[in-house]
Amino acid sequence: MSKQFKRTLITAALPYANGPVHIGHLAGVYVPADIYARYLRLKGEEVLFVSGSDEHGIPITIKARKEGVSPQDIVDRYHFLIKKSFEDFGISFDIYSRTSSDIHTKTSSDFFLKMYEKGEFVEQETEQYYDEEAQQFLADRYITGTCPICGNERAYGDQCEACGSTLNPTDLINPKSTISGSKPVMRRTKHWYLPLDRHEAWLRHWILDEHKEWKPNVYGQCKSWLDLGLQPRAVSRDLDWGIPVPLPNAEGKVLYVWFDAPIGYISNTKELCGQQPEKYGNWEKWWCDQDTKLIHFIGKDNIVFHCIVFPTMLKTEGLFILPENVPANEFLNLEGDKISTSRNWAVWLNEYLEDFPGKQDVLRYVLTANAPETKDNDFTWKDFQARNNNELVAILGNFVNRALVLTQKYFDNAVPALGDLSDYDRETIRNIEGVKNAVEQNIEQFRFREALKEAMNLARIGNKYLADCEPWKTAKTDMSRTATILNLSLQIAGNLTIVLEPFLPFSTEKIRSFLNLPKIDWKKLGSIDLLPEGHRLGNAELLFEKIEDDVIERQVQKLLDTKKANEDSSYHAKPVKETIAFDAFEKLDIRVGTVLECEKVPKSDKLLRFLLDDGLQKRTILSGIAAYYPDPQALVGKQVCFIANLEPRKLRGFMSEGMILSAEDADGSLALVEPSKMVHPGSEVK
Ligand code: MF3
Ligand code: ZN
Repeated sequence: MSKQFKRTLITAALPYANGPVHIGHLAGVYVPADIYARYLRLKGEEVLFVSGSDEHGIPITIKARKEGVSPQDIVDRYHFLIKKSFEDFGISFDIYSRTSSDIHTKTSSDFFLKMYEKGEFVEQETEQYYDEEAQQFLADRYITGTCPICGNERAYGDQCEACGSTLNPTDLINPKSTISGSKPVMRRTKHWYLPLDRHEAWLRHWILDEHKEWKPNVYGQCKSWLDLGLQPRAVSRDLDWGIPVPLPNAEGKVLYVWFDAPIGYISNTKELCGQQPEKYGNWEKWWCDQDTKLIHFIGKDNIVFHCIVFPTMLKTEGLFILPENVPANEFLNLEGDKISTSRNWAVWLNEYLEDFPGKQDVLRYVLTANAPETKDNDFTWKDFQARNNNELVAILGNFVNRALVLTQKYFDNAVPALGDLSDYDRETIRNIEGVKNAVEQNIEQFRFREALKEAMNLARIGNKYLADCEPWKTAKTDMSRTATILNLSLQIAGNLTIVLEPFLPFSTEKIRSFLNLPKIDWKKLGSIDLLPEGHRLGNAELLFEKIEDDVIERQVQKLLDTKKANEDSSYHAKPVKETIAFDAFEKLDIRVGTVLECEKVPKSDKLLRFLLDDGLQKRTILSGIAAYYPDPQALVGKQVCFIANLEPRKLRGFMSEGMILSAEDADGSLALVEPSKMVHPGSEVK
């Protein structure tokens, strides 16, 4: 029997305030956390749901430096943007605050000091790269150099993005500071370390024995960390952005961002409880009482911090409870590629809402139905369209609409009486009752996509019921039977407002207004007396609308444009070849020819055979561009440039008399070179 708790504290990872939030954030962390919070609230449980912006760390300082503004400017810009996106998507935080707040500085400093005084840190001096010109120590990301493994000249101190190797700054050949461009030197520096190795024993027992119920991806990652053996980790950095290490003789040192960020959950709780003590009580109730169930929602790259590092901090500080579960998700990819802020490969929430105003629930639905719960998943616009059209419109919207329209038509918009039940009605009622348990089981085990599927089954049950009972036919002969059918259908619609509330809060609000119902408790889910006989319905409107192909094509085109722009910006033209004398150029006879015939060379993937009018005669030239011109016929009539005096060569049984010129693009594809206006065939190119 699992432990009974009195209340639940839900945290959602603090996103870095160095860019807007995208669909990957929503799918991996915020939508599942929100479903869980809304579900528990609907059950009448005591819940607190916290998050906020993570405003420290190197990526923020790098961005600030690039733009020539202060780190505070950067975090101000994105904190408010992120906060607004979450509000727009109905993520129902009790508080969304930030780590640059005073209360957070104080809470983190006190946390550090308490651990320090208990002797929980080890002080150690090491050598690190230092930029003498900029007079500062260099974080790994501030050093570039040549990768010792693949030779990429632009590898970072922590990683080579060309070959994917993890590196140490000292591995780099010819290291360079990205701040001043100078060659960094080694210098001694002192830091405070959290000796995780001291805590291995209890961590092993706590996770591996006592939390076997954690998701396999989370449990597995913890086990492999623990099996490798834990190492001390520095909790401070040499940096001028962050919370100063609260000790004498620690100038220029700040707390490592991963030390202060999770404490943000606590500071934000304190902030909220300070503002609304009557509603939320004191913060200790949430963080220091064994009857509170603490759940961290995060992405998979945060697992070690939330399952090993932060619990060690909580335990050694001494006052705090440990998480009961850490339901981390895997990653969501976008159209087959990893989502990336720096490459702008993402669907940004603010942009989505500009393109799809009012369609928050469509995205919430698609991201939950396709959530990366057990493995990485792919978001595609085609799937988005299909789920909207085939599920939200065709199943949910269609059912609710039919139930309402038929009631309007036959019963003047008032709930008709439930008469005698047929066997089929009874079977349907049992199916309705079954949904509650199925959804609960899944939500409580953090299986939200399965839970959503079960919830949507209720709409499927409703659709099937209407289709089988055909109230438009019974209306011709038996109004009391018609009344029963529509009464039950409306009860199903009423139940949908409960079961879908955690997933699709905007749509359930609409359905409630169509049905003229208030928000109903979760415990009523499955009952068929939600709408009493005679209850007047509200006005029905469209719940979901079909998304057409051209809308989807525009989104796909937007991504293709991004891809092109990325290729362009990463394109490096080859160095220019050795200088030649003018007469060497004059020896080349380059001319324009008009294409008379063009076709694929049989049994070759690459070659096209051209027949050109070269002004004097007809000339055959083979060219290896078939892959880039799938319709060779379309080239007939165009003009191309070719080298006329190249020694003829025999290729695939043809004599090729010259060479057609084409330009090679960044991706290796070839484009024919043509004169900018028609000229006489045989014209010289000079
Ligand atoms: N900012 C981190 C990230 O985006 C997550 C921080 S979670 C917290 O990966 F625990 F530190 F708050
Ligand atoms: Zn490399």
